[in-house]
Amino acid sequence: MHEYVSDLLARGDLYVVEREVDPEYELAAVVSQSQKQSDKAILFNNVRGSTFPVVANLYGSFSRMAEMVNAEDMGLHPRWQQIFETLPPHSFDYVNEVPHPADFHEGSLAELPSITWREKDAGPYITAGVFLANDPENGTPNLSFARCMMLGDDSKMHCCIDAPHDLAKYQAKAEAKGESLEVAILIGAPPPVFLAAVASLPIEEDELHLAAHIAGGSLDMYQCKHIDMLVPANTEILIEATIRANERCEDGPFGEFLGYYCEKNTEAFVLDVKSVSWRSDAYYHGLLCGSREDLTAIAVSWGNRIYRDLVNTLPGILDVTINPTLFGSIIRIDKQNEEHPQQVIDAVFRLNPLYNRMCIVVDKDIDIHNLENVWWSFLTRGDLDSRTHVFSDLDGVDDSNYSFNGYLGIDATMPLDSSLEQSTTPGEMNINLNDYFNNMKQDN
Ligand SMILES: Cc1cc2nc3c(=O)[nH]c(=O)nc-3n(C[C@H](O)[C@H](O)[C@H](O)COP(=O)(O)O)c2cc1C
Repeated sequence: MHEYVSDLLARGDLYVVEREVDPEYELAAVVSQSQKQSDKAILFNNVRGSTFPVVANLYGSFSRMAEMVNAEDMGLHPRWQQIFETLPPHSFDYVNEVPHPADFHEGSLAELPSITWREKDAGPYITAGVFLANDPENGTPNLSFARCMMLGDDSKMHCCIDAPHDLAKYQAKAEAKGESLEVAILIGAPPPVFLAAVASLPIEEDELHLAAHIAGGSLDMYQCKHIDMLVPANTEILIEATIRANERCEDGPFGEFLGYYCEKNTEAFVLDVKSVSWRSDAYYHGLLCGSREDLTAIAVSWGNRIYRDLVNTLPGILDVTINPTLFGSIIRIDKQNEEHPQQVIDAVFRLNPLYNRMCIVVDKDIDIHNLENVWWSFLTRGDLDSRTHVFSDLDGVDDSNYSFNGYLGIDATMPLDSSLEQSTTPGEMNINLNDYFNNMKQDN
């Protein structure tokens, strides 16, 4: 992450904030405003109450996510599919054990930035901590996210883990044996580790192995001092902790990923913090939940699943995106026949009902990241009524926070026998307006 931030600085893809900002609301307000105008990352060098510089919106751009996995012209999800398909066998030894970093400094939770993100949040939260845990039965490593509520207590935090997640299943396995679960919380994890945590693999799959594969084959790891675990080197800040067995505690209210508050609940877990340590010059990663950075990360994960399921089921699947927001997917196809778009819509809703409420299918010449282009194709390429399908016979979302039914499928493709041809201007893609407009404002 350190090198990536330096890279962004060098090429001017990072805003730098030198003035002091208040970690209570002001930092989040700046992130939120900035994201409305730009997808650049932000570096806050002076956050009141802490010496750590805070990096935000690092993952808040699909193009940066594509760059991190070397997608180049291939498209983000096709590249992810290639990564999954070329993952070496389970037995592949990807760990390169290195000594404990000499420059690591041990400190306390109180020294970390104490960021309160939303008005009604119960208090400051760590939101970008990647949890690394090993399956208590067979040792398989898992990476995931769980927000941590800071309590002003150096030895304890509360963390929220949704029941379906592998980490919750690991905790349940440890609890069944009456044991606490060791976890390493990585704040400012190397990008391949963050990306592997975003991906959701079946519980028997090793997500560190995926991180190593994204990183090029191997991962430098070192042994923790207070728990029995190897952790990725080059992590900015490391919290070594255990999750208590047979104890639940309060979490929330908290402004969650869908942009609403979840209510206070008593299902969170108690984390006993054994140690907090960091490399010299460490960056703290702060992530505003429900903002572009959170949604981009989740959209990559959901889009991967949809793409993977579709390419394994149907021909002519070119790319997928989650757009305009979560629960909406847009699928670009090389249309095979008039039934093809409907088959895609059916498959999307059947295979991944929890991640889709609306699905739009477009032709191969449409830019799925450009909603204006997507709606233009729907509105200009055929009937609106016969290409719109509402489904009421599928189960919708129903959990403690959200309950809704109904699915909307839109076929925005053109009939195969249509003579319409999109007009284009040769050379447009190669035009750099800076070469033409003398007074063009530079975006610094
Ligand atoms: C930035 C971010 C924050 C998240 N925060 C939480 C959280 O606080 N609690 C939770 O249960 N899941 C959270 N998630 C979702 C899961 O951690 C994520 O889907 C993960 O891939 C699930 O891992 P699994 O495959 O090991 O089950 C978050 C996801 C992201 C991208």
